[in-house]
Amino acid sequence: MRRLARVLALVAAPAAATGEVVIDPPAPGSVSRAEGLAAWDRIYEVASHPRCANCHVGASDVPMWSGPGYGRTRPHGMAVRAGDSRIGAETIPCRTCHVTSRTGGIDRPHAAPQVADAWRLAPPEAAWFGRSSDQICAQLRDPARTDGRTALQIAEHLGHDVILHWAWTPGSGREPAPYSLQEHVNDVLAWGVAGQPCAFD
Ligand code: HEC
Ligand code: HEC
Repeated sequence: MRRLARVLALVAAPAAATGEVVIDPPAPGSVSRAEGLAAWDRIYEVASHPRCANCHVGASDVPMWSGPGYGRTRPHGMAVRAGDSRIGAETIPCRTCHVTSRTGGIDRPHAAPQVADAWRLAPPEAAWFGRSSDQICAQLRDPARTDGRTALQIAEHLGHDVILHWAWTPGSGREPAPYSLQEHVNDVLAWGVAGQPCAFD
């Protein structure tokens, strides 16, 4: 049988100097609808967590902040807006503070997160902030809103996108996203093999 597992090298966060994600989908037909829905519930826990959703905001263009000392989630300070560019090119670029470097001060309280890629907001089609499990489920299986990505391609994206890896090692006392990157990838693959079920189907 053709081996589907592929190992993607990652530029991982400082706590885990390097790491790898295995993309190994379950065999076709081996994941029931109930198991697919259970995987979806865990996917939603991750997607709706502030470490992910604060960047997956919609047309407001305003990233969100939450963490120790904030009480509840609030709009990003300093009147930051991402604009159509999603990188703040129209006003103050994100890179002014979110430099693409891992050196220095990343773990200070309230330090601006830094990753080895251009820090930017997710596109409006991938807006998750404040949305329900059903809404995000419908979005993630709609090719018009995922840039045509299948569940397998979404899992691959999760494997090699260094921005979102930050969510599991966010530093500065912030709560990491739940589960682990590998568990999240496994859940996306299982949900895909189950036919991307949503609870409202
Ligand atoms: C003037 C400096 C500055 C600019 C410009 C800036 N940020 Fe930030 N950002 C910060 C700081 C400081 C923090 C950490 C806040 C804290 O934890 O108290 C932060 C945190 C964040 C977080 C993490 C929030 C969380 O709770 O997980 C996101 C997401 C974010 N910024 C997105 C952006 C985006 C997108 C842009 C560009 C459109 C941008 N920022 C521009 C300073 C900046
Ligand atoms: C700093 C901002 C930021 C954070 C934090 C972030 N993302 Fe994203 N996300 C993006 C950007 C930008 C894109 C678009 C990149 C692309 O399509 O190549 C994206 C795209 C995605 C996509 C593809 C969406 C689609 O519809 O095709 C997925 C899946 C995703 N992110 C998952 C996550 C998860 C899970 C987390 C938390 C563990 C997370 N992201 C945290 C900025 C962020």
